[in-house]
Amino acid sequence: MIIRLLFLVNLIILVITLMAIATKWKPIEDINDPVVGGWSPIKGINDPHVTDIANFAVSKFNNQTGATLKFEKVIKGESQVVAGINYHLIISTSNSVHNFYNARVYDRPWEHVRKLTTFMPVIDH
Ligand SMILES: *[C@@H]1O[C@H](CO)[C@@H](O)[C@H](O)[C@H]1NC(C)=O
Repeated sequence: MIIRLLFLVNLIILVITLMAIATKWKPIEDINDPVVGGWSPIKGINDPHVTDIANFAVSKFNNQTGATLKFEKVIKGESQVVAGINYHLIISTSNSVHNFYNARVYDRPWEHVRKLTTFMPVIDH
């Protein structure tokens, strides 16, 4: 009887621990869940913060691939508020194979988190 009770208590502790881990550990896919908030166009595509995000994307891409793209300007962009802000920017570059790139950056400035999640050439141009 005691052993059964101990087993039950252990099981409950295990379940609680697993639940705690599951809620704490959020993969990036969850953060990017489009259900969280809609995308809206960025009106101030020349705002310093947007330029900063775009520069980060180009710089990060260069660092990760050994390319030497030079940021020119943001052509258009949209953003999504989640547990931070997702940016989707179309950037023009020089010194590069393609002239336009699609960049996605996840930014959570209050925790100093900034991640480049996508950087791909715009095929239509
Ligand atoms: C890219 O590398 C340079 C030189 O190491 C560094 O100063 C810069 O912060 C890096 N850029 C990013 C976005 O990580």
